[in-house]
Amino acid sequence: MQESGGVPDVFDPRIYATGIPHDRFRALRDRAPVARQEEPEILGWPAGSGFWAVTRHADVVRVLKDSATYSSCLGATQIRDPDPADLPFIRRMMLNQDPPDHGRLRRLVSRAFTPGRIERFAVTARERARQLLAGAIDAGGEPDLVRAVTDDYALLNLTDLLGVPPGDRGLLHTWTERVIAYQDPDEPPVLDAEGRPVNPRSPAMLAEMFDYAQELAVHKRAHPADDVMTVLATSELADAEMEMFFFLLTVAGNDTVRSAAPGGLLALAEHQDEQRRLWTGEVDTGTAVDELLRVHPPVLSFRRTAAHDTELSGQRIRRGDKVVVFHASANHDERVFPDPHRLDLGRTPNPHVSFGDGPHVCLGAHFARLQLRVLHEEVRGACGGLELAGPPRRLVSNFINGVKSLPVRLREPFAPHA
Ligand code: HEM
Repeated sequence: MQESGGVPDVFDPRIYATGIPHDRFRALRDRAPVARQEEPEILGWPAGSGFWAVTRHADVVRVLKDSATYSSCLGATQIRDPDPADLPFIRRMMLNQDPPDHGRLRRLVSRAFTPGRIERFAVTARERARQLLAGAIDAGGEPDLVRAVTDDYALLNLTDLLGVPPGDRGLLHTWTERVIAYQDPDEPPVLDAEGRPVNPRSPAMLAEMFDYAQELAVHKRAHPADDVMTVLATSELADAEMEMFFFLLTVAGNDTVRSAAPGGLLALAEHQDEQRRLWTGEVDTGTAVDELLRVHPPVLSFRRTAAHDTELSGQRIRRGDKVVVFHASANHDERVFPDPHRLDLGRTPNPHVSFGDGPHVCLGAHFARLQLRVLHEEVRGACGGLELAGPPRRLVSNFINGVKSLPVRLREPFAPHA
């Protein structure tokens, strides 16, 4: 285990390409629940000042709820420090704001996420899942479910909800990939004139996406429809807020489901007994979806910055320090979850933090759960079970718990598809 001063390293994005480092998190939870982490230069990205890794469930929840102490605004929400010159720009996004400013935007955009709009969406999502799965099965052999099903499923569901015309959907894929996969060697970084990687969240990198958001807003004002972009384009959001929100949704709404969908299927493929319980209807699909999110949290970490000197689990934290919560660790905390490494699809209660907590708790949780429930129901209808046909490939990232490929063997269905 790579250690720095006796403390396991959970920063290096390459660690996560072999799966969640449960042994490291366990050691941190037991020995140093708020542990100092170095941020050396890695993969061409410059070194940072280091941070506190928060790994126990109770502390993670405390940090996420207490935005007066642990700010999303001061240094934004990624481990890597943004260029100070970019901070005012990045803080336009509600993700990187604190109450009370955050509340204004959150209330405005929540109106676009009405339960009715989300529920209406179940029919489209189901039809899409069916088509994608049928395509994967018809192609024969051992499909890679990421390429054949889950990548498109997540992206197309999001673009439908937003109201992005079919011809433009590939653009969103490119943009979100740039922002999320930038630590992964499969995604070559964009370099500046001196050959240094350009921060994917900088204004220069986002200009194209913002121009598109403005064009789409103009189109929606002229042709209103039942979609989120129409609500945003006709709301009191300023143009700059609207384009930032488009960016936030594109990233937050795509890569998370794109991780959760194959991550859940992977867990099922690795646990045939639990898969059978789900497939035979012994456990409720909604309950199972939450347990799959617990063991495979799509988001690995979020950062806060201490607004004043404080103390957490006996550790002194100074004003300005970076504090990073690790969702996967909190979700496996033995202090909260009995037998945390057992996949129990019927687990209740299940207070996992995969959707965060506090003022920034995920706005799209209902939409995400719906998509995952529908997907699992349709996989169950399309085949009699699935098993791994080869090792999955994972993303190199300490932010998104991505699955890049999931080769499977699908068994014959139990009964004709209803
Ligand atoms: C399984 C899928 C998803 C997971 C695990 C997830 C996870 C999260 C987490 C952990 C946060 C909290 C960020 C923080 O603490 O700073 C968050 C915020 C957010 N999520 Fe999700 N998310 C998912 C899907 C979605 C979808 C589908 C959408 C939209 C279509 C969405 C939109 C948002 C937005 C807008 C925020 C910011 C909320 C705020 O700042 O008040 N998410 N999400």
